[in-house]
Amino acid sequence: MNTVVVGAQWGDEGKAKITDILAEKADVIIRYQGGCNAGHTVVANNITYKFHLIPSGILYKNKICVIGPGTVIMPEYFEKEHQELLNQGVDFSGLRISPLASITMPYHTDIDGFSEDNAQKGKIGTTKKGIGPTYTDKIARIGLKVQDLFDIETLNEKLDIILPLKNKQLQEVYGLKPYTKEQILNYCHKYSEILAPYVWFDWQTFFEEIDGSVLFEGAQGVMLDVDYGTYPFVTSSNPIAGGACTGSGLGPKMIDEVIGVAKAYVTRVGEGPFVTELNDETGMKIQSIGHEFGVTTGRPRRCGWFDAVTMRYAVLVGGLTSVALTKLDVFDTFDNIKICYAYEDTRDGAIYKNYPTNVFIHKYLKPLYETFEGWRQDITSIRTYEDLPENCKKYISRVEELIGAPVSIISVGPDREQTIFKVS
Ligand code: IMP
Repeated sequence: MNTVVVGAQWGDEGKAKITDILAEKADVIIRYQGGCNAGHTVVANNITYKFHLIPSGILYKNKICVIGPGTVIMPEYFEKEHQELLNQGVDFSGLRISPLASITMPYHTDIDGFSEDNAQKGKIGTTKKGIGPTYTDKIARIGLKVQDLFDIETLNEKLDIILPLKNKQLQEVYGLKPYTKEQILNYCHKYSEILAPYVWFDWQTFFEEIDGSVLFEGAQGVMLDVDYGTYPFVTSSNPIAGGACTGSGLGPKMIDEVIGVAKAYVTRVGEGPFVTELNDETGMKIQSIGHEFGVTTGRPRRCGWFDAVTMRYAVLVGGLTSVALTKLDVFDTFDNIKICYAYEDTRDGAIYKNYPTNVFIHKYLKPLYETFEGWRQDITSIRTYEDLPENCKKYISRVEELIGAPVSIISVGPDREQTIFKVS
């Protein structure tokens, strides 16, 4: 069984935990897009591990864990993450890095940081990890790939084209310092040595003979997808299931199921529309009980009620076959819980049951809610669906009806054990 794990909201849905559980049964785990903008926390045997780019499947022995062609790698961040995990005793013998993955260069981070810090209008709230500028150069065909670091002739040839362009942009558009070719060559040389043990030049042979099960690990979420998310308040890659194919080198016929991970509520970091956002005590309560602070940036996450309009859209464009509903236990002390089933346009009273893709009108939209009675009970030690309180089951059933997809996994706490598999 080959499975794609996709974030179904705006990222931070708890994908790492679900990926970690599914990774146990997989032979190959491929991270297919994004870079160190992602932050994944996995708790295993009471130890907390923090991942950004390296697939969390690395915690299991005898798995091939691939940083795929669709990802972007910031070498110094890779070095840091790798070192921290090494210090925790993680075994890296299964790690493979695609030679086709893109490299985030120092000028990409300079540009991302400058653009964010100086934006008067249209601030995206990026993680400042150079993600957008790296993907921009990839699409503009002036990017560097991992394989380029290992061929000095190619590297020289490419830098002669790229560097004058980047330096002109740095100086004339951003007023930033240019780089000498020597500086960039030294940088490439230093990091080629760090990446070298893992670069996977014979991946084609492996893929031709692949017979185990593959887990495709997405980062961010459908609503941050560059084509289908709340553009322009998105990341610069394709977290949707389609991105698993372009970002891994394995075609659609390889995919058997797509699990979309969604919180029982919604969070978002960075700028951009968020119709069910709660700027009140309830939002603060969700933030505090759910520990809603970013792993990568430490920023507090904006919180709101579950948005079934957006989620039904995510099921459609994300290609989801089922949903893993996480953090349900955050509602254990709530008297009432809400689900947004439609939006109302405050300008003319129009009702939207389908997600309006022009996000610039979202500021006029009011969420329409169904209210559910809470279960007022600790569910963190429950392990079967049947044992969940009736009000909890009612909530889950309504989520399934509204989004048009079954809930297959329910998470009631951070630990691997705190997981319920629901057979529909
Ligand atoms: P970038 O990916 O750093 O360019 O940021 C673009 C948008 O995606 C910003 O709103 C970020 O906060 C958001 N973002 C990027 N990565 C993540 C993530 O892993 N979780 C949640 N939001 C993210």
